[in-house]
Amino acid sequence: MVRQAPRTAAVVPAAGRGLRMGGATPKQFLTLGGLPILVHALRVLEESPAVTEIILTVPAADREYCLNEIVARYKFRKITKVVPGGEHRQDSVRHGLAQLDQSVDMVLIHDAVRPFLTVDMVARVIDAAAKHGAAVVAIPLRDTIKRVDAGGLIESTVDRSHLWSAQTPQAFQRSLLQAAHRKAHLEHYQATDDAQLMEWLGHPVTTVEGSGENMKITRPEDLRIGEAILAAREMPKKVIQ
Ligand code: C5P
Repeated sequence: MVRQAPRTAAVVPAAGRGLRMGGATPKQFLTLGGLPILVHALRVLEESPAVTEIILTVPAADREYCLNEIVARYKFRKITKVVPGGEHRQDSVRHGLAQLDQSVDMVLIHDAVRPFLTVDMVARVIDAAAKHGAAVVAIPLRDTIKRVDAGGLIESTVDRSHLWSAQTPQAFQRSLLQAAHRKAHLEHYQATDDAQLMEWLGHPVTTVEGSGENMKITRPEDLRIGEAILAAREMPKKVIQ
């Protein structure tokens, strides 16, 4: 019997309003290097051989815009569904997961506002999740971490030797993540990422090394840092020409 390659669907939550960025346009649609931010992330997923389909969750009011100006305009062939998100990120992911067929083995969750993931990162996190059930891209903390009281006074320095920053992409067995989301929804448990839902269930989650470049675009200054990362990536190509 020929063994089928596991099917991995990517769910991309892009339904946030991006209030910390200021302005009326959700940050995932702002321009970075001449392209809407989410197009950068979607291109990497489109190029990733392990990803078989992409489900995009967007603000309900922006669905038409996304179908015409993102999916059609940039010719994404793997995006099979564009669905309205929910109030919180967790709701948007749950809406995306609800679209998945039972034949999908693995699911990769990636925030639309992290444009600098790589094809290699996607492959490594999917491999790790195939072995362990759940895996996240993460990096060790570099700064010294302080616990600060409400008045701004430092209470203590936190031992950072075991502290890591979780990023996306994060990969999971599809049935495991769907079960976690169902239970969290029923019990009104809110997590800030999908790995936290696994931890809540007591399921081990493994880490694979991410990169400092795989930043989340949150504030206006992140756009300037993002432009610098893009320029640095373009540099070697220009030197060769
Ligand atoms: O707000 P934050 O930076 O944590 O958002 C991370 C990702 O989750 C973004 O891509 C954002 O568009 C998405 N999101 C969502 N639905 C929400 C809130 C955030 O899809 N209700």
